[in-house]
Amino acid sequence: MTTTPINLFEYEAAAQNRMHPHEFDYVQGAATDEITMRRTRSAYEHIALRPRVLTGTHAADLTTTVFGKTISAPFMLAPAGGHTRAHPEGELASARAAAKFGTVLGISANSGHKLEDVAEAADGPKWFQAYFYRNREQTVEIVRRAEDAGYDAIIVTLDSSWPSKRERNIRNGYKQGRRANYTPEQVKAAQEAAPKGRFDSAQSSRGQTDPGATWEEVAWLRTVTKLPLIFKGIMTGEDAKLCADNGLDGLIVSNHGARNLDTTMTTIETLPEVVDAVNGKLPVFLDGGIRRGTDVAKAIALGARAVLFGRPIFYGLALDGEDGVSSVLDILRDELEQTMILAGRPSIASIDSTLIRKMPVLD
Ligand code: FNR
Repeated sequence: MTTTPINLFEYEAAAQNRMHPHEFDYVQGAATDEITMRRTRSAYEHIALRPRVLTGTHAADLTTTVFGKTISAPFMLAPAGGHTRAHPEGELASARAAAKFGTVLGISANSGHKLEDVAEAADGPKWFQAYFYRNREQTVEIVRRAEDAGYDAIIVTLDSSWPSKRERNIRNGYKQGRRANYTPEQVKAAQEAAPKGRFDSAQSSRGQTDPGATWEEVAWLRTVTKLPLIFKGIMTGEDAKLCADNGLDGLIVSNHGARNLDTTMTTIETLPEVVDAVNGKLPVFLDGGIRRGTDVAKAIALGARAVLFGRPIFYGLALDGEDGVSSVLDILRDELEQTMILAGRPSIASIDSTLIRKMPVLD
């Protein structure tokens, strides 16, 4: 019997055994009752595949393009703070694994290694994630640094404008680790600006992100960078339409892995209204609960250009550093390839809405 994990759920279980319980809780946990987090998996389970046969599909081409770059499969690493909590090499190891695999690495402003060091670790495609900081100069400064370091796109995360209530962290008295991209003055200013309350004091963006930001500022943000600009945390058709109307280059349907506001819809349930609202004007990405090749296929069938995953990066790192992240990526690729061949879909472009339907029992 093999003890090497053979799927992402086994990676999760193995990471739980390997990581300090408070670190695992930080990665794993979600907001308040974790209702949306629990529903996330069952939402995928309630979508059925409609496989076609005798299509001659003897191989599958998993490649797709994002902002003109080819990636080897339609999934990417979501920006998630502090990979060092799972492995000392943190984002450097993730960068090498992503580059080797041939997909995009999302790097959080709250990364455990400096964004410049991550960029130097490997030359694969990379997207840098920033915020509307309370001090807008901080946004300008970090975006410039990302440009200078060679990042290919800027993600702005919008769903973290107020501290969340992650009760596992509150109970554990969890303290956030190193924030490599900020000066001690910036960390101090954020601490002083942080709303006071019974929040999870570990949350990285606490006190940094500005709840006062509005759509009026998108025009200004556009002047800050020429790189593709992607808004993350879009959960309604209304906001998706505003992204399209305001000239965004992409959007990510995301509820931050259900870590910020509980009882939202799951992202896969939200995807159709977002795809409908943008009407092909910009690529729609999705994250949240992607753990199987079939999940990726379902999101593509519902109109996503590609998907991202967050927690499995930490599972891979915790088990085996760079090799662990490589293995997580390989497992997902093999599962997606198998799904496509067995469903008679030889390419990503051939995956359309006829691949899926709601489980009949729910009709
Ligand atoms: C995150 N996520 C996140 N998102 C972001 O925009 N900036 C950040 O700093 C972080 N930090 C972070 C830390 C950890 C430990 C996790 C697990 C997640 C959210 C992330 O980008 C993504 O939206 C979710 O992780 C997707 O859900 P899954 O794949 O984890 O189910």
